[in-house]
Amino acid sequence: MSSKNAAVRLNKLLAHMGYGSRRDIARLVELGAITLNGIDVTQADGKVEPGDELQAGLEIDGEPLDPLPGMVVMLHKPVGVTCSHKEAGPLVFSLLPERWRRRDPALSSVGRLDKDTSGLLLLTDDGALLHRMISPRAGLGKTYHVTLARPLEGREAAIFAAGTLMLDSETTPLKPAHFVAESAQSGRLTLYEGRYHQARRMFAALGNHVTGLHRLSMGGLELPASLPAGAWQLLDSAGVARVFAKA
Ligand code: URA
Repeated sequence: MSSKNAAVRLNKLLAHMGYGSRRDIARLVELGAITLNGIDVTQADGKVEPGDELQAGLEIDGEPLDPLPGMVVMLHKPVGVTCSHKEAGPLVFSLLPERWRRRDPALSSVGRLDKDTSGLLLLTDDGALLHRMISPRAGLGKTYHVTLARPLEGREAAIFAAGTLMLDSETTPLKPAHFVAESAQSGRLTLYEGRYHQARRMFAALGNHVTGLHRLSMGGLELPASLPAGAWQLLDSAGVARVFAKA
């Protein structure tokens, strides 16, 4: 993502990217395991500019450097993994390279999907970007494919669009949401806010029950059909711009 940032010491940068302590980095340098454009790096605490050139040129143990700070990951979240320790089960982070769990700043999910929800999940270590994406001011639409236990009644789209639906134990009505039926028991729902279990509770409020929930898109960014459940890819700046583009 990043093209060029202020110079930092290599050992500090790599330690924050999860490659080990500064001592571990010094050892890697002594072993000749870190190269820049094919040449051994000799100074663990030498200054480098984190940017595209470093990303392309630095190798550790013959492997390309992990994404520099400022990374955004697009994950096809499968059912059964969780976004937070509050739910039991393996975390989404278990689907990503192990070293990324030691990054500082940490990689965080952009909002959450329930354990039983699949689909598009973004993760980033860029706190400002994360906040821009989840801010109500951004008003990003998130579109889900919803599968239901019972047939639709035909009133759902109008009720969700009215902006008056009040969920149990809440004090403010939901913002208008957009629903389009696709079959007798399924449809596409676009939400412009992110309340707890929102889609499931919206249908529960109408006496139905969500049996399948899959996020198709965030803003103008769609989950590519080529990305199978459990797989991830890095999102470049054009991909991030799509999130903020009108769907
Ligand atoms: N609404 C839900 O009920 N669950 C999700 O994971 C996302 C939206």
